[in-house]
Amino acid sequence: MTRTRVEDLASYIRDVPDYPRDGIVFKDITGLLVDPDALTEAVDRLAALVPDDVELISGMEARGFIVGAALAFRLGLGFVPVRKAGKLPPPVRSATYGLEYGEATIEIREGTVPAGARVMLVDDVLATGGTAAAGAQLLEELGAEVVGLAFLLELDGLGGRERLAGRSVSTVLLAG
Ligand code: PRP
Repeated sequence: MTRTRVEDLASYIRDVPDYPRDGIVFKDITGLLVDPDALTEAVDRLAALVPDDVELISGMEARGFIVGAALAFRLGLGFVPVRKAGKLPPPVRSATYGLEYGEATIEIREGTVPAGARVMLVDDVLATGGTAAAGAQLLEELGAEVVGLAFLLELDGLGGRERLAGRSVSTVLLAG
């Protein structure tokens, strides 16, 4: 299939001020997802961030499922979903953490990650880093080796990099 190379991937992401709460600028990736060239470009650029020896891709619900599962397919790897609480049957392992707005609990089903598996954790946005830090910790508690974290978009100035200090963090796009 022929496609048009997308240079300005950021232009497909829409800023929505004061959503879902006052003072929050929501990053809407819907326009990127619906465009085949932009989606392909985004997944290609994410794939370039994944070391060759990674064995599994993991992604955070919900938007991390979209980019993460596409990335896993692109690389011929399996995918481990990190779900929001109450969606997975037992046995699960849980972690509760603070968000840019509110609090959340995430879960991974025990038995989905082979001991010692080299896992890359993927999400659409890195903001405060709370979601990714909790996901990486959960994966490690279940025996994974989290070799890195990859994001489509990093929001500068919200402390995400600091929250993930000591981990290998890579991003496709940076927004101020
Ligand atoms: C957003 C985004 C990341 C997380 C980043 O998810 O998709 O998962 O916030 O924020 P953090 O770095 O401050 O933790 P959201 O909770 O809005 O859920 P969604 O993907 O289901 O829309």
